[in-house]
Amino acid sequence: MKKLAIFASGGGSNAQKIHEYLQEHPFAKIDCIVVNNLNAGVISKAKNWDCEVINISKNDFYKDSKISNLLISRGVDLVVLAGFLWLIPQHLLQAFPQKIINIHPALLPKYGGRGMYGMNVHKAVFDAKERTSGITIHTIDEEYDKGQIIFQKSVEIESCKSPEEIADIVLKIEHENFAKTIHKYLQK
Ligand code: GAR
Repeated sequence: MKKLAIFASGGGSNAQKIHEYLQEHPFAKIDCIVVNNLNAGVISKAKNWDCEVINISKNDFYKDSKISNLLISRGVDLVVLAGFLWLIPQHLLQAFPQKIINIHPALLPKYGGRGMYGMNVHKAVFDAKERTSGITIHTIDEEYDKGQIIFQKSVEIESCKSPEEIADIVLKIEHENFAKTIHKYLQK
């Protein structure tokens, strides 16, 4: 069975959906959850998931290969970024080539890059009066939101009256598609 490391430092709803999907499709197991702050919503969610929660400091993340070595020693096959905003360091990219994937709440290459995360993305999309938004699931490389696109799905947002409404619609399609896409990606 494949092992996933999920990096999640936001609310953790995508990690939750991946956990639920794995109950029905046990192609993989969540080996560990990596957070960069102790307020991450995923910590309480993961209490009953039979996986380790690792809280990493910025220093440990960037200074040396500690986290890469740890994930390798645990036999992790795929690193899944589900609301994790730190740029991924070179040692981790080298340890997991094409094996780090991210979900982004817009249709890249638009609305990506430094500072483009969460509500910042939805506000920018709303202000630009876009008729559609969507999600992008992609591999990670040295730059923010520039890796190879694995999956995209668009959704009409013409009726949305606020960035929050866009966020709700987009999060729903993240939940419907992230675990499925991970499943397909690992079957390749
Ligand atoms: C998700 O909407 C994800 O697309 C976004 O953070 C949210 C995390 O939600 N990620 C980015 O904006 C990355 N640039 P969650 O913690 O409830 O899964």
